[in-house]
Amino acid sequence: MDARDRLIVALDVETLPAALELAGRVEGTARWVKVGLELFIAEGPHAVRELRRKGFGVMLDLKLCDIPETVARATARAADLGAQLLTVHVGGGRRMMESAAEAARKAGSGLGILGVTVLTSLDDRDLAEIGVQGDVGQVVVRRARLAMESGLFGVVASPKEAASIRAAAPDGFLIVTPGVRPEGSDVGDQKRVSTPRGARAQGADFVVVGRPIRDATDPRKAAEAIIAELA
Ligand code: C5P
Repeated sequence: MDARDRLIVALDVETLPAALELAGRVEGTARWVKVGLELFIAEGPHAVRELRRKGFGVMLDLKLCDIPETVARATARAADLGAQLLTVHVGGGRRMMESAAEAARKAGSGLGILGVTVLTSLDDRDLAEIGVQGDVGQVVVRRARLAMESGLFGVVASPKEAASIRAAAPDGFLIVTPGVRPEGSDVGDQKRVSTPRGARAQGADFVVVGRPIRDATDPRKAAEAIIAELA
């Protein structure tokens, strides 16, 4: 697989023009973009359609977590939009994930559902505080197993857990890791981070990178440097 296909650029910006501008800066370098809550709430489905029209693969990162019927119906609409990847929270439970996976299959558009295991901004103390038992590593692997059993296409986890998920997962089960920071860049609110090279070495298939590209003086150069590390 071409290393350019392994980077997903998070378009965490306020408006569609800003998103298209950032996407334009990395065009020809990165092939995947991520539409998250900020852009989706601001601009809605149109943002996904526009980015697809420009030829980008789109990960729609809405982290759905609701009753199975609601998530199934929302999944069908995401498939209509032409997104290739959609995130749901594993914390929504087995039935919710099965419903999402089934809705995606029925839609027949090739939409893959990714389960968010534990947000990369959380650590052991945060988990204890919300009443989740076990350390992050254990919880992530347990949730990744549940995502597999529920028929999901892959999971979102931090690079730190990618190796243990890889060991438990069949080939072809996708591991997508945010929390990726090139050497020397600001960590921000992320707690479980690794470099792009580290993420790949741990078994990540795709890395999601937002601020280190968005906030770079030259986003294309930043993306190229990350891709070089992923190769
Ligand atoms: O700017 P940064 O590289 O930290 O952006 C990471 C992106 O990945 C953000 O858009 C964030 O919403 C998303 N994400 C994450 N942790 C997860 C799932 C998604 O940081 N578990």
